Amino acid sequence: MKQGDLLHSGKAKSVYRTDDPGVYIMKFRDDITAFDGEKKDTLCGKGVYNAEVSSFFFRYLEEHGIRTHYLESTEPGTMAVRALEMIPLEVIVRNIAAGSLVRKYPFREGEPLDPPVIIIDYKSDALHDPMLNDDLVFALHLATPEELDLIKATALAINEILREYLDARGITLVDFKLEFGRDNGDIVVGDEISMDSMRLWEKETGASLDKDVYRFSKGDVMETYAAAARRILSPSGGE
Ligand code: C5P
Repeated sequence: MKQGDLLHSGKAKSVYRTDDPGVYIMKFRDDITAFDGEKKDTLCGKGVYNAEVSSFFFRYLEEHGIRTHYLESTEPGTMAVRALEMIPLEVIVRNIAAGSLVRKYPFREGEPLDPPVIIIDYKSDALHDPMLNDDLVFALHLATPEELDLIKATALAINEILREYLDARGITLVDFKLEFGRDNGDIVVGDEISMDSMRLWEKETGASLDKDVYRFSKGDVMETYAAAARRILSPSGGE
């Protein structure tokens, strides 16, 4: 498979066409951004960690019956993926109140959310990802009621699978973001599942193992990403 033209460049990843029209190459760059792009840096090696963790989670979800865009890991920092028609939604599943939920609503940070809360934002840098409700999703023709039901059910199923996996490795899955696309009418998980898109708390210490370390300058970001990747990728969960 040969890498072709650049199709799309986001804040931290670039997507390239290949000589196969059904396959794209996703490159995880070392760029990191926060607060709607206001804070940005380049951290050498970050892309490789996020690609490794994302590839692992996609393979793990496939083994558990969830359809994802993942095809294979070609070289470090990249992933070959199925070309999807992406749906511009950011589907966030929250198990514990943190981040924007605590900033915008009267929750205490760390408050458990049972059942988990799903929040769906419209993916648009220009509009700053405004929150949607079901009626807006339909009025904007972003998804049909059947698709939205499937997206929510899949997001909750993924939450259970990842929560259990991370729990066994001493990590609490606080919240995470998913994106979905269509493949011949089927709903498929796309984008990434990495330290950039999840909030992970070490159970023993409560320490952040994710992008919050960058957002709030809580410590060494690369050391945190390396430790998170080591833990997530280890069969036993040990350091
Ligand atoms: O900022 P907020 O608390 O709403 O983020 C919830 C979760 O979704 C976090 O894990 C965050 O990393 C992720 N997220 C993301 N991309 C966005 C917005 C949120 O990966 N554009």
